[in-house]
Amino acid sequence: MKNILEAPFLREICKTASNMYRQGWDERNGGNISVRLDEEQLTPYLDVKNVLRTIPTKFDAEKIAGQYYLVTGTGKYFKNVEDDPETNLGIFRISADGTEAELLWGYKDGGRFTSELPAHLMSHIVRQSIDPTSRVIMHTHPTYTIAMNAVCPLDEDEFTHRLWQTNTEAIVVFPEGVGVLPWMVCGTNEIGIATAEKMKEYRIVLWTNHGIYGAGKDLDEAFGLIETVEKTAQIYMLTFGKVQNVIPDSGLKALAEWFRITPKKGILQ
Ligand code: 13P
Ligand code: ZN
Repeated sequence: MKNILEAPFLREICKTASNMYRQGWDERNGGNISVRLDEEQLTPYLDVKNVLRTIPTKFDAEKIAGQYYLVTGTGKYFKNVEDDPETNLGIFRISADGTEAELLWGYKDGGRFTSELPAHLMSHIVRQSIDPTSRVIMHTHPTYTIAMNAVCPLDEDEFTHRLWQTNTEAIVVFPEGVGVLPWMVCGTNEIGIATAEKMKEYRIVLWTNHGIYGAGKDLDEAFGLIETVEKTAQIYMLTFGKVQNVIPDSGLKALAEWFRITPKKGILQ
């Protein structure tokens, strides 16, 4: 067996967690990441028949039975992932009946997957059905996005419009806009269901007064989406109350034409 610590998927999630920590998005144990893996990616490193223990999922994950996931551990600090992946991460398979995670590697201290597993797996189910190449769900606490969400109405079209008006690349990177959930208790199946419902339309979902979810085909794409929202929110907050110039709707339409993208209907005049 090859050394799993050298597997590209493991190196990448470690680098990503460190990077997110350095952005200041993931204080303490804030944030969580899940990556869908293929059996063929794992077999050089792991005996996938060797289940270390099982952990109840506490919701019905039958739609993704047999799939493999690499997921950050609950209570674990992103700043520590790179130094000790085997304690801070885990790899498991969803059991045939969808009620258990079959742990194959990691959570070495007896730990378990993130408390936000319902939102992750329910979002994976939705995003895969829209785009079979979708593999990553990322949750984090980016400062300016949370600040902007606190000073803006919760209306998704209004929030999306303000982002698009603030930064030229916003409409290009997320033409479908941004989903917004009202404040809810985190870690529950309810917030998981609500997040997944939004993921039918959006790859970015804000959790009011909490943080953001991003979906992508790989870690770079999910990170890049969140990074673009956060950069835009930072500009919004730095200029809040003193704005002289925003991109007019005619300009946003011209961008859509130039980049051949279809912005969400009903936002631009
Ligand atoms: P976990 O430590 O369970 O992943 O929770 C962190 C978090 O961001 C909760 O929303
Ligand atoms: Zn959180």
